[in-house]
Amino acid sequence: MDPFSYRDGELFAEELPVAQLAERFGTPLYLYSRDALETHYHAFDDAFGEHPHRVCYAVKANSNLAVLQVLAQAGAGFDIVSGGELERVLRAGGEPRNIVFSGVGKTAGEMADALKVGIHCFNVESAAELELLNLVAGELDRVAPIAIRVNPDVDAQTHPYISTGLKENKFGVDIQKAPALYQRAAELPHIKVLGIDCHIGSQLTRLAPFEDALERVLKLLGDLQALGIEIHHLDLGGGLGVTYQDEAPPARSDYVQALLKHIPGDLPVHIEPGRSIAANAGLFITQVLFLKPTEHRNFAVVDGAMNDLIRPSLYSAWQEIVPVTPHDADCRDWDIVGPVCETGDFLGKDRALALEAGDYLAVRSAGAYGFVMASNYNSRNRPAEVMVDGDQAFLVRARETVDEQLRLETLLP
Ligand code: LLP
Repeated sequence: MDPFSYRDGELFAEELPVAQLAERFGTPLYLYSRDALETHYHAFDDAFGEHPHRVCYAVKANSNLAVLQVLAQAGAGFDIVSGGELERVLRAGGEPRNIVFSGVGKTAGEMADALKVGIHCFNVESAAELELLNLVAGELDRVAPIAIRVNPDVDAQTHPYISTGLKENKFGVDIQKAPALYQRAAELPHIKVLGIDCHIGSQLTRLAPFEDALERVLKLLGDLQALGIEIHHLDLGGGLGVTYQDEAPPARSDYVQALLKHIPGDLPVHIEPGRSIAANAGLFITQVLFLKPTEHRNFAVVDGAMNDLIRPSLYSAWQEIVPVTPHDADCRDWDIVGPVCETGDFLGKDRALALEAGDYLAVRSAGAYGFVMASNYNSRNRPAEVMVDGDQAFLVRARETVDEQLRLETLLP
């Protein structure tokens, strides 16, 4: 079900007209659908049936506290990559025993904080990290539960910036070298081996790369068992793609089934989906400031910019842009551009739209890697975020103010 659809000639978010929300909260604005977040989470969770599992939502995709709260209440676990994300999950009511900690550059302080609250598992990405974690756990007189993130060297067939499972990527440990590192881990007094972890990339629209990676992980599982190293779970990462334009990624349930059919017995499985839970649960709303048709291009200058939503500029990502209240002005191809002083500041190019100044536009699929990647470039305040729940709307992050932007800066004496 699409939480954002047209009724009586205007775009709705669940039961509320988007234009009304834009008036009430101002633009640029992120809007999230609680129902969509829950539906997407449950689609993964339900697909596992009785098979022991954890769906650890990748917090990086959208870390608004209310988003995390909705998912925590739905029963989600969380995949974090920083001390900041740990704190967010805890404040949103997430349980430490459902947290896994990924990332290539965990600091000793972040490790200590995660150990003190008792997270489920550290996804260790290098030999050096393993040694430091053992040391930090020793100082706290604890034992750190770990999985080693292996790099299975499969091509995720996605954008090179978000492909992570190739030999030349910085992530994980070469799968060939993993047995030796597991043996080292088994010797370390403050480390307990729990699982094997891998994540090969993001916005994957085919099952084959996931299955190839899993095949290699299962081979490693056999090798480790032969070495007498017990494995208690497999973490298969995130990465399932979504439809932005005409991509046809597998259904969440088919993805889970495709993984489960290879899993021996009832070995617990973790997944770390981010985009596939959050992307299509969010819109980015912006207002047309000026129309600027030129001899070469037609520009619609809007109040949202690359600092608010960077995916189009950074990855040449295509996100659908639709009118909030369609009308019969003259339809032409517009470049939807923001106020930031860069040619790369656009939300979309060559979009056939009937536009007038003052119109609201909705950029679809903006719930993942949207607000979280926003910056203050050009000293712009970051947008507000609103959660829609049926016929109610809650401001879950206020629009930033210039005072807030400047709060940490000081003039020289
Ligand atoms: N687990 C790990 C270890 C990850 O690095 C990621 C994403 C995920 C899970 C979640 O992947 P997802 O299910 O969301 O594909 N900013 C980029 C995406 C970067 C993804 C980074 N890692 C974008 O806007 O396309």
